Amino acid sequence: MSIQIAPSILSADFCNLERDLKAIANADLVHVDVMDHHFVPNLTLGEPIVKRICEVTDLPVDVHLMIEDPDRWAPEFAKCGAASVTFHMGATHAPVRLARQLRDMGVRACFAVRPAEPVEPLFDILDEFDMVLVMTVEPGFGGQKFLGNQMNKVRRLRDEITRRGLDVRIQVDGGVSPKTADIVAAAGADVLVAGSAVYGAPSPAEAIDQIRAKAEA
Ligand code: DX5
Ligand code: ZN
Repeated sequence: MSIQIAPSILSADFCNLERDLKAIANADLVHVDVMDHHFVPNLTLGEPIVKRICEVTDLPVDVHLMIEDPDRWAPEFAKCGAASVTFHMGATHAPVRLARQLRDMGVRACFAVRPAEPVEPLFDILDEFDMVLVMTVEPGFGGQKFLGNQMNKVRRLRDEITRRGLDVRIQVDGGVSPKTADIVAAAGADVLVAGSAVYGAPSPAEAIDQIRAKAEA
């Protein structure tokens, strides 16, 4: 499966979102971080802005919900026009029901695990999902240091997906840059989220190319 690069607009200029979305036209997805001041100690944006992002960009919109009660709210983000919706396993009550609801709405269903959360207990429900997000920082903020100790989790997940022939992508989010892209790709991740490494670079488009080249090398 080819590597996909998903810039996170958390590090974009929220007053120039349209400009900053155009600056990443060579990406595969646009990653939108939704935070609620409860699940994480930060607050970003909600449905009206996600809806406008979906209208303005040509890229598939990948919504990463870092919110409490995703069982209640994730379908609202699916209605905004997202291509994929990711919720945190630690925040949901009925992950399989929610995944099925999202898929029934034509949206790719994904779950995320935080650095201290194991993925093995979730192997039995992997086939209910289109993607698994392995966090390589504690969720909440951009620009944190990459946690290389999550690579064994990615490898175990990749082995399980390969062994069962599942069509599930592995996304890595947090501290991904041209310096770490080869490590995450080698471990088996195939969707790389990068916020500060893309929007902190002089040319976001060149940063995307560099991350892709490093991941595919
Ligand atoms: C953090 C968010 C990430 C964030 C990544 O909780 O989920 O998507 O934007 O930022 P960087 O790439 O700077 O670590
Ligand atoms: Zn994210």
